[in-house]
Amino acid sequence: KRKGFIFDLDGVIVDTAKYHFLAWKNLANSLGFDFTETQNEQLKGVSRVESLKKILAWGETSVSEEKFQELMTLKNTEYLEFINKMDNSEILPDVPRVLDYLKDNNQGVSLGSASKNARIILEKVNILSKFEAIVDGNDVSKAKPDPEVFLNAATAINVKPEDCIVFEDSVAGVQAANAAHMISIGIGSQDVLHEADYIFNDFTEISTEFINKLINN
Ligand code: BG6
Ligand code: MG
Repeated sequence: KRKGFIFDLDGVIVDTAKYHFLAWKNLANSLGFDFTETQNEQLKGVSRVESLKKILAWGETSVSEEKFQELMTLKNTEYLEFINKMDNSEILPDVPRVLDYLKDNNQGVSLGSASKNARIILEKVNILSKFEAIVDGNDVSKAKPDPEVFLNAATAINVKPEDCIVFEDSVAGVQAANAAHMISIGIGSQDVLHEADYIFNDFTEISTEFINKLINN
């Protein structure tokens, strides 16, 4: 059967989660406060606007609308400096193996990311062509944990939500997948992603047998 496999980008395909963290941390520091790696888990999967709102709340800082826009631009400019240095060595282990296996077995493969930089990143690491459809932060109005991005990613490859499987590294993303009634696969730690249907540390732990089980269920 043809299922839909929907991949988050940041922290699933590439380790850009660390660059988001660094850029937000530097921004917070420039405003005179800091936040922890534990707090950072709440930013993963969340849109740029929602991330800045959370960070400002942590620093008990409020800014004008104009300043808010300026801060988002500052963060993204620094983030893009990291992105511009990326190449295919930053694709996370065994992601290409799984993508190729799915393609060879005629499965639907799409991207479901909150990032407005998704296409640039996929081009940078040279795997844009492995996706049948891209749904990213430019295509949605509601941030994860809202299921909009995954529902659109399913429609884009013409697969029903209940036949879709989502790979996610964030709490908000796992919740979005669950809300879309899709199978959620957490990539990361059990402690953080316990709401997922399955959890793996990374793609090296995802066997062909397991993928076949998902395809045939
Ligand atoms: C998500 C990241 O994939 O995209 C978040 O996990 C990020 O950390 C969000 O804020 C938006 O990304 P961008 O690239 O549009 O700022
Ligand atoms: Mg992510």
